[in-house]
Amino acid sequence: MRDFFPGLAGVAATKSHISSVDGQQGILEYRGIRIEELAAHGTFLETAYLLLFNELPTSSALQQFENDLRRHRRIKYRIIDLIKCLPEHGHPMDALQAAVAALGMFYPTPDVRDPEARYWSAIRLLAKLPTMVAAFARLRHGDDHIQPNDNLSYAENFFYMLFEQQPDSAVATMFDTSLILHAEHTMNASTFSGLVTASTLADPYTVISSAIGTLKGPLHGGANEAVIHMLEDIGSVEQVSVYLDQKMAAKEKIMGFGHRVYKVKDPRALILQELAQRMIKDEKHDSLLTIAHVVEREMEQRLGHKGIRPNVDFYSGIIYYQMGIATDMFTPVFAMARVAGWLAHCFEQYQQNHLFRPDQIYEGPHNRPYEPIESRGHSSSVT
Ligand code: CMC
Repeated sequence: MRDFFPGLAGVAATKSHISSVDGQQGILEYRGIRIEELAAHGTFLETAYLLLFNELPTSSALQQFENDLRRHRRIKYRIIDLIKCLPEHGHPMDALQAAVAALGMFYPTPDVRDPEARYWSAIRLLAKLPTMVAAFARLRHGDDHIQPNDNLSYAENFFYMLFEQQPDSAVATMFDTSLILHAEHTMNASTFSGLVTASTLADPYTVISSAIGTLKGPLHGGANEAVIHMLEDIGSVEQVSVYLDQKMAAKEKIMGFGHRVYKVKDPRALILQELAQRMIKDEKHDSLLTIAHVVEREMEQRLGHKGIRPNVDFYSGIIYYQMGIATDMFTPVFAMARVAGWLAHCFEQYQQNHLFRPDQIYEGPHNRPYEPIESRGHSSSVT
């Protein structure tokens, strides 16, 4: 009997120098640097540089990197036209995936191992994702999209393109910190999906669009959106206990809790919770944050012994909600950050490539006869 690991749990899919997680102690490091350090002292673009190039940038390297990014924030009018054609009720992650796949058609990458081509694809993807996310957010409501403003920082410019006004500096800093915390997380589902695509030597735009598709699901990045729906459904602190009992009796998952690797509270959730508290100074009785705190306390009593605790998605949504970002835009914002990690893994894969082609254990029949259509009596369903 061959070994079989459902969900590949515990199976190492690659060797990597990019990030590491200690799920027992709650430690996450990017290129060996603790996320608490990066969140306290760094910026998202420094972090993206670190992930891509293995070192924190010198000030001249950072300036060059930021300048290159600012010059590539604009998207072609045909991408705008494409976004305009998408159904306004469609999910923004689908719009982002389609726009990123289309982007690759404008910037062909014949040789993915060429360092120059890799650099410019990284610059374009990092720079243009926020523009595409903001464009869909506005165009679906019939508003014009807003051109990027080169004088603004990465976070400020995103808010400007979304709301037509700059955020105050405290909001911009908190948003930037949240991007740092979402930038990378070892061999998660979307990174793995990107890695599989990269292993075919597909171009980085195709790799990132694969990863975006995988991030969308509610068991992965889509959980941040699901958490807000859950907190809204609960509605008041008095309802928390009944809600959790009902969900658990129905064997349904509580969104924003649990993790394949962490058995303690996700270190990113700790920082995001602190940010949410800093942002929402006077916590009202039935505010989402208050309800979230009660959910966390009640979940600890019910499932803490199994190591099921808040993950990154539990408090991030509350911050974005407070910033006025639409709930279905939370996962695209996650993608704007995670593109840094996805690209780092994509480039690492190109360097040490071995096509992913796993095996399976076949459990179906063999040698079935071909039945003539007149004698097929069964009704079929998709399996
Ligand atoms: N609520 C209730 N029970 C849970 C939860 C949860 N959120 N998570 C795990 N469990 C239980 C599960 O029912 C199972 O119980 P039993 O052993 O009695 O059958 C046990 O814990 C193991 O669960 P699993 O789903 O087999 O474990 P996994 O390693 O595949 O789970 C997970 C990881 C993230 C898919 C899962 O915890 C989950 O579905 N959480 C809710 C969705 C969520 O918050 N996703 C975000 C993940 S982290 C950030 C990201 O990727 O974006």
